[in-house]
Amino acid sequence: MSFIVFLLFFFLFHSSIIISVVSKCSKSFECGRLGYLEFPLSNSRGCGLFTVHGCDSVNPTIQLEPGGQEYSILNISTNKFLVKDHSLQSLLDTNSCFSFINLTLPKYPSISFSFSPNLTMFECFNETYKSERGRYFENYLNYTCSLIALYYSFPTANVAPPVPNGDGLPSQCHVIQLPVKSNYDQQSPENVFDLFTSEYTLEWNLSEQCSECQRGGGQCLTNDIGEFECKR
Ligand SMILES: *[C@@H]1O[C@H](CO)[C@@H](O)[C@H](O)[C@H]1NC(C)=O
Ligand SMILES: *[C@@H]1O[C@H](CO)[C@@H](O)[C@H](O)[C@H]1NC(C)=O
Ligand SMILES: *[C@@H]1O[C@H](CO)[C@@H](O)[C@H](O)[C@H]1NC(C)=O
Ligand SMILES: *[C@@H]1O[C@H](CO)[C@@H](O)[C@H](O)[C@H]1NC(C)=O
Ligand SMILES: *[C@@H]1O[C@H](CO)[C@@H](O)[C@H](O)[C@H]1NC(C)=O
Ligand SMILES: *[C@@H]1O[C@H](CO)[C@@H](O)[C@H](O)[C@H]1NC(C)=O
Repeated sequence: MSFIVFLLFFFLFHSSIIISVVSKCSKSFECGRLGYLEFPLSNSRGCGLFTVHGCDSVNPTIQLEPGGQEYSILNISTNKFLVKDHSLQSLLDTNSCFSFINLTLPKYPSISFSFSPNLTMFECFNETYKSERGRYFENYLNYTCSLIALYYSFPTANVAPPVPNGDGLPSQCHVIQLPVKSNYDQQSPENVFDLFTSEYTLEWNLSEQCSECQRGGGQCLTNDIGEFECKR
């Protein structure tokens, strides 16, 4: 008998711990001028997929991964936000050739990101292959930045050949995508850095697994080793 009582207490105790952990994650939270935010955003550790800071300030920020960079949130809607990427801004401000690398957006099993509008470009190294590239990127605009040759075209420039898909690219050339101003192809800037912008729309897409977990009343989380976890 006392064993059954013990078991009963044991289970009561445990289930109350589980309930208190999950219920600590509120369904939504108020975030200043951004209004009420909800999953996958959160304002406390261990809840949601990424954390919003500074809700009581004029400049709330978001961190897409623990210890990662903070983006200012300028606006938000159902599955996207308009962010300001301060580290890209400082690269663009200084006309740095390091601007021409892919944005480092985190890769998680539960959620994927894309940014728009973006421009696909080709970044090539090593002058040795210049003539080969000249043929391949005929009609493309080019810009040389230190050791990098950048080739790009505008969707409205119908002189450009079909965008190469990465197969058969000339040696030592890579595809990169960077956020561009929304009217970028309407202008011919003196400075190629003026095409780009540090304010872009970041859109997220939950994996099927994660959406299912949420629909089923669980908490879709990323555990300490970056794996999907559905906490119930
Ligand atoms: C914020 O987003 C909403 C919905 O997408 C849009 O209607 C509004 O114009 C945006 N506001 C700003 C300041 O961009
Ligand atoms: C670039 O924009 C296109 C069209 O909006 C989108 O499909 C693609 O995922 C974007 N690229 C990145 C790296 O976000
Ligand atoms: C460029 O490529 C050629 C041929 O592969 C190689 O011999 C040369 O060292 C490379 N130059 C640089 C600067 O990497
Ligand atoms: C860039 O384009 C100009 C004019 O089309 C061409 O003369 C030059 O060789 C190109 N530079 C590179 C690095 O491809
Ligand atoms: C940059 O991102 C694009 C789109 O995600 C990808 O196709 C490409 O391989 C990436 N380039 C490099 C150099 O990682
Ligand atoms: C979002 O993710 C789902 C499931 O992984 C996928 O089927 C869908 O095509 C994605 N949608 C976009 C817009 O990337």
